[in-house]
Amino acid sequence: MRSKIVLLLLISGVLCNYSNKRKKLLNDEASLSMGSSIILAGNEIIVNDFLMKKKWEELDFGFRNPGSFIPALHMFDTLSRIEQSDVFQFIRKLPKGAVLHGHDTALASGDYLYNLTFSDNLYACVTNERIYLKFLKEAINESDCTWKPIHLLRQSVTDFDIRLKQQLTLIRANHREVYTDSNVVWNYFNKIFITVDPLICYKPIFIDYFYQVLTELYEDNVFYIEFRTILPTVYDLDGNTYGPLKVAGLYKQVTEDFMQTHPEFLGAKLIYAPVRNVDEKMMQYYIDTVRVLKKKFPDFFAGFDLVGQEDLGQPLTKFVKQLQKIKQEVNLFFHAGETNWFGSSTDENLIDAVLLGTVRIGHGYAALKRPEVLKIIKAYNIAIEICPISNQVLLLNDDMRNHPANYLIANGFPVIIGNDDPSFWGTKGLSYDWYMAFMGMTSRRTDLRFLKQLAINSIQYSVYHDKNLAMKKWQQQWNKFINISTSLHRAP
Ligand SMILES: *[C@@H]1O[C@H](CO)[C@@H](O)[C@H](O)[C@H]1NC(C)=O
Ligand SMILES: *[C@@H]1O[C@H](CO)[C@@H](O)[C@H](O)[C@H]1NC(C)=O
Ligand SMILES: *[C@@H]1O[C@H](CO)[C@@H](O)[C@H](O)[C@H]1NC(C)=O
Ligand SMILES: *[C@@H]1O[C@H](CO)[C@@H](O)[C@H](O)[C@H]1NC(C)=O
Ligand SMILES: [Zn+2]
Repeated sequence: MRSKIVLLLLISGVLCNYSNKRKKLLNDEASLSMGSSIILAGNEIIVNDFLMKKKWEELDFGFRNPGSFIPALHMFDTLSRIEQSDVFQFIRKLPKGAVLHGHDTALASGDYLYNLTFSDNLYACVTNERIYLKFLKEAINESDCTWKPIHLLRQSVTDFDIRLKQQLTLIRANHREVYTDSNVVWNYFNKIFITVDPLICYKPIFIDYFYQVLTELYEDNVFYIEFRTILPTVYDLDGNTYGPLKVAGLYKQVTEDFMQTHPEFLGAKLIYAPVRNVDEKMMQYYIDTVRVLKKKFPDFFAGFDLVGQEDLGQPLTKFVKQLQKIKQEVNLFFHAGETNWFGSSTDENLIDAVLLGTVRIGHGYAALKRPEVLKIIKAYNIAIEICPISNQVLLLNDDMRNHPANYLIANGFPVIIGNDDPSFWGTKGLSYDWYMAFMGMTSRRTDLRFLKQLAINSIQYSVYHDKNLAMKKWQQQWNKFINISTSLHRAP
């Protein structure tokens, strides 16, 4: 009797012990988080210790100086500080797998883009409003434009290069004054294409540009991309223009050329993603194009999406009848819920995206407000492509610690990180967005396992045709990275 009571007291003492309960709750939560099922082994533990030391130094500094914590600040004000961060430098070297959310003509670095403005045969036309660019054989006069060789205008027009540089990116020192709301910043964003498209859609440059995109990804330790493209019209000096099929062919050719000289690179696939602000007739043209692309490029063509500011574009529901016809034929990768509104046609795009069987969701920023959609996302394992810096620059959120994807990460949803349009906000490759996710959107306790999971997710949620091969190649790169990092960071 007495021993029974002692036993009972003992059990309740252990179970009801507050600090045990607390520990259990913390562990239960940690085990839900993305990456928690990974077990680090051997040298990974040494590398993780180094990473966490650096993460905690930065977090502790931020905790003491909240006004200086990088993920809490606008990226335009912290770019050089990010590049100096040891955590960022670590992430740069880490084999990150794939980029699954990025737009073709906004992927190369701003530096490279600006350098293109020194190309031969480039002409410019200067109006009060903007500088237009175009490749020409010789100077021409149009009714609203006198085209002159760009090098002459560089010398003669005041502040020519300052103006031109501004037109190529969204970066502004006074960005808070210029970008007063999301419509304003999206308007600037759209206008960049007016300058950039004629610059990079000149055939020789077009080829060089995409080669540069792949080079910069490769240098950032990304080995595969599923890029979205509107398949812009490409031109040359002889008056030829190249339509969607020809342009898709150019992308395929460049990818193959790049892989010849970079055997560690796994490749690229194309997602046809034209603008969403169209009528049913145009949608039919898109669908016809999709069918031809699929037939002509069965391995290179990955699927379909629509782009452009969602709040001001057409909602998916407008095209449901048409889209239902192709949902069995091709993979869909809809941008959906890239908005702060709730109960609007934009966040309802999430409903249509999942009903149409989307393979992944672009942004899904509003997903937390749609609990049934969240259930479907989890049940059907639909990856959400989070682009932290894009969301900040396009004014959905400010402080990464308040980004809704924090919830998704803490609950082990299928999240991947994309870079969207790095060209326009001064970043390069994928590491800047990974840095924001790791430092601003995860727990202090979240470690190397999260980064490893992000890389694995980028392969598992891709539509690459041989995932075993992809995983094998990535694992080799990972082992090499762990080996090298171990020798660099082993405690003396
Ligand atoms: C509660 O459990 C912890 C950890 O097992 C132990 O260190 C502590 O002494 C316990 N406290 C009580 C009041 O039993
Ligand atoms: C751009 O040009 C400058 C000056 O020639 C050069 O130093 C830099 O490496 C170039 N950048 C790229 C990305 O090509
Ligand atoms: C374009 O017009 C300017 C004057 O407006 C003239 O000086 C120039 O020769 C013209 N160039 C061509 C190529 O017609
Ligand atoms: C890692 O290093 C060990 C010895 O330090 C070596 O045996 C192994 O082959 C290396 N692995 C890779 C992938 O480089
Ligand atoms: Zn996008």
